[in-house]
Amino acid sequence: MFIVKKKIGKEEYYYLRTSKRENGKVKAVNVAYLGKNKAEAEKKAKKLQEKSLKLTPSKKNTMPNPKELTIDELATFCKRRGFVYPSGEIYGSLAGFWDFGHLGTELQDNIKKQWWKFHVHQREDMVGINGAIITNPKVWEASGHVDSFVDIAIVNKKTGEKSKIDKHELKDLDKNLFEVKGEFNPMFTTQVGPTKEDSITAYLRPETAQLIFTNFKLVQDNARLKLPFGIAQIGKAFRNEISPREFLFRTREFEQMEIEYFTAHNQECPYLNEIKDTEILIFSEEMQTQKAQPKKMKLYQAWKKGIIKNGWHAYWIASEYSWFTSLGANPKKFRARQHTSEEKSHYATDTWDLEYEFPMGWRELQGFANRSDYDLKQHEKFSKTKMEITDPEFGKVLPHVVCEPSLGMGRALIVFLLSAYHYDKERENIVLKLSPKLAPYKAAVFPLISKGEQLELSKEVFKILTEDFNIVFDKSGSIGRRYARNDEIGTPYCITIDNESLEDKTVTIRDRDTTKQIRVKISEIKTILTKLINSEIKFEKAGKLIR
Ligand code: GAP
Repeated sequence: MFIVKKKIGKEEYYYLRTSKRENGKVKAVNVAYLGKNKAEAEKKAKKLQEKSLKLTPSKKNTMPNPKELTIDELATFCKRRGFVYPSGEIYGSLAGFWDFGHLGTELQDNIKKQWWKFHVHQREDMVGINGAIITNPKVWEASGHVDSFVDIAIVNKKTGEKSKIDKHELKDLDKNLFEVKGEFNPMFTTQVGPTKEDSITAYLRPETAQLIFTNFKLVQDNARLKLPFGIAQIGKAFRNEISPREFLFRTREFEQMEIEYFTAHNQECPYLNEIKDTEILIFSEEMQTQKAQPKKMKLYQAWKKGIIKNGWHAYWIASEYSWFTSLGANPKKFRARQHTSEEKSHYATDTWDLEYEFPMGWRELQGFANRSDYDLKQHEKFSKTKMEITDPEFGKVLPHVVCEPSLGMGRALIVFLLSAYHYDKERENIVLKLSPKLAPYKAAVFPLISKGEQLELSKEVFKILTEDFNIVFDKSGSIGRRYARNDEIGTPYCITIDNESLEDKTVTIRDRDTTKQIRVKISEIKTILTKLINSEIKFEKAGKLIR
């Protein structure tokens, strides 16, 4: 929800608005009139927003059931089901900061584990590090963030809505509609040291990347890395965004999953055969300037035809698209868009974004900048430390970052949740079809009758499974209610202990997406669940099909 100001004559009127879906289109509609005084209006809006988010999980599903959610509806769903809450909400929250609930924490953790496994553990050419959030402030002078990392704040004269634009957008700005408020550096500062005289001003890192550059030589040497190679990192980044909005899309504290991929200058990508079949909508700078439509094509072909100049870009875009879609992201909603020359960051020679069609439209999900040798050269200059390495093939060389796949955790989480969200008409409840690899709970265990021997045996099954998995134990309400509760939070398998279980030590497993059920031996349940989660076996073949 957001506040808008309307000016009629000399009077200003404030309204609270939200985006709603009407006839398949997302529209802004008034929620409440907030009065004529700005401060009063902000207070009223805060109260109304709190009220609308203070929804308790109800027995009957009351979540909307469109094919696709608006971003506000997703935020409400996340709050209701324990994924994400506005931070410090009991004090009125703080714009741009979010807390993760018991399910959001698990989901985030699973995304990170899958990302690390795919990018670090399963590659010979990649290692991972974990740098400090606050480092020597000279790092940010060298990187160019102190001088060149600026946003321009503008205010819509009619609605009072604040937003940010890049410097290059200034020339096209409608000055009748927008007032330019000035330039802002979005880095948060803090004092390091006990007293004022003894302290220095430092920054909360605005990207994780720089810690990879400052540690580059040590890591390359310690891990005996040979070109081409990558260094990966997952960690928090902070930006004092002018207008944090759209739930986790633009926040002031967020987590990044970044790779700096180093090559010798003009070193060719040897992995292009791996991506021969990966097809995606391509939107090059030329297509944008000619006002042409994005075109679906194989990334390999786009590189062959020179639309994507660098093979490494084609390779990494394909690789990241495959990672997303293998974990359940909707493949139809991705496209690769090249930055126009004026929108590139201060360090980039060529940048592509993997964009996703969010409910608010096509937006950047992940960036792929070619940073060349900009950062290592800058750190050489500012630190007076040689950054060259000796490579067995290339000798003494200052590597280039030919591609920097950089992804925000919050945006990835939104993509996975939006892709998973389904309303099942027959079941009359939401089924969150998350990949079992990402699901917060891998299975729910319930006794059919919540007492006596069935309760005891189900506790034993719970104990066996929790050695390897995060499992929810659920003994309250009807079986139907327990299924519905777990469908809504994305639990892929429900395991029921019934009378038959007491006789032959078997249990039933119900599949979330098909509601099919199989019966399996308790002694085999851990192996079967592992195979199901890793898609190594078809559900129907994993046991005796009973429904
Ligand atoms: N090291 C390069 C870099 O930081 P960026 O395009 O500014 O590049 C990379 O950010 C990614 O980080 C974005 O594609 C997005 O996923 C995420 N990101 C950036 N700013 C964000 C914000 N304010 N809130 C949430 N995610 C953000």
